[in-house]
Amino acid sequence: MEPIEVRVPGDKSITHRALILGSLADGVSRIRRPLDSADTRSTAAVLRELGADIGGVAGDEMIVRGRGLRGWRAPTVALDCGNSGTTARLLLGALAGCPWETRVTGDASLQGRPMRRVTDPLTAAGAAFEELGESDRLPIRVRGRRPLGPISHDGPRASAQVKSALLLAGLTGGAPARVSEPGLSRDHTERMLRSMAAAVEVTGRDGRSEVTLGATSRLEPLDTNVPGDPSSAVFFLGLGALLGPVRTLGISLNPARTGSLEVLARMGADVRVERGAEASGEPVGSVLVAPSSLAGTVVEAREVPSLLDEIPLLAALAAAAGGVTRFEGVAELRVKESDRVAALATNLRALGIEVEEEPDVLTVRGAPGPLEGTVHSFDDHRIAMAFGVLAALPGNDIAIEGREAVSISFPSFWTDLQRVTTELRRT
Ligand code: S3P
Repeated sequence: MEPIEVRVPGDKSITHRALILGSLADGVSRIRRPLDSADTRSTAAVLRELGADIGGVAGDEMIVRGRGLRGWRAPTVALDCGNSGTTARLLLGALAGCPWETRVTGDASLQGRPMRRVTDPLTAAGAAFEELGESDRLPIRVRGRRPLGPISHDGPRASAQVKSALLLAGLTGGAPARVSEPGLSRDHTERMLRSMAAAVEVTGRDGRSEVTLGATSRLEPLDTNVPGDPSSAVFFLGLGALLGPVRTLGISLNPARTGSLEVLARMGADVRVERGAEASGEPVGSVLVAPSSLAGTVVEAREVPSLLDEIPLLAALAAAAGGVTRFEGVAELRVKESDRVAALATNLRALGIEVEEEPDVLTVRGAPGPLEGTVHSFDDHRIAMAFGVLAALPGNDIAIEGREAVSISFPSFWTDLQRVTTELRRT
């Protein structure tokens, strides 16, 4: 059977970074196939408030006219990051190096997410943060400083948002930065900065990785092709594992993002990675997944950074697999767009699946066979899409409330899912 092909929207993490770093570069950046969704619109909107010149998406391209590392201006309004944790945390970092006052806020979900992981190390470097609501939460008033003192941080867990925020503070605040983390979180910022001729170095020792930013007075503009988002592609790969062969074209194969492919293969899916040429410093290629009978597995804590955003889909898949799947070291999922561990447990139980929920572990006992019931997105795009895949399987009767949450990262998800499912059923 010929695989059904899907091209998913551009990578969310890379699009956020291209917009932010493009606005801090000297000159005109071209960003092709950026993600155009609620989250990346939040980033573009706050950057415009900071005086950045960002065009709309014309054809497939976005133009950002950067005015240099000191080119932002004090905004006249609070900066609303909407639902986007990446926007908020990266912005808190970049603003720490801007010598004026700004207020940063977000929607109810974002106001429930921890921010001290970013603001604590920046306070140590000389910036000031005033929490205007609850402790450790937005809204926060930032008083930046230029030059900032040296930034040095040994993170307790791998976090690309923390790492990127501290590098951005170093750039805008004219300070050297050093960030170490256990394992390696996604490294798009480092790759992009290198392509912009910044003094970034990455080393690894004793299971930790360390990135340093040396004196950098200017960034070259970007000319970048945004690859497809592997965190969006995984929903179709999950469908491929359950229903019929699916090939997702041109996605980022950055090793810090592809842990879910190993888990899919371990569960018994037939996974084939077809590597293409590197694009804009990121490995890119297509992935083909064909169905087979799926079995449970153990996802270990050390794997989690490489499949962090894919756990909702993997847990949904585990419900349709034979046997037990255990997700270890998943406490961090409790402070994403929703408490994803609780959201997954509630929804899976509503479908009659046996689930055990511990603070740091989620265990799912698969029940191959028809599933029936009503689930909620909890206003979380990835929860909506994970259950969307189960709902698309013939024989299942699943209603999903809050489907519109997909607009955060994948506005055309439901249309694309319908097309692929119809084509798979036809062949
Ligand atoms: C992101 C990093 C990840 C991820 C998030 C996007 C980024 O969070 O979950 O959806 O673009 O930097 P961490 O900061 O926990 O790595």
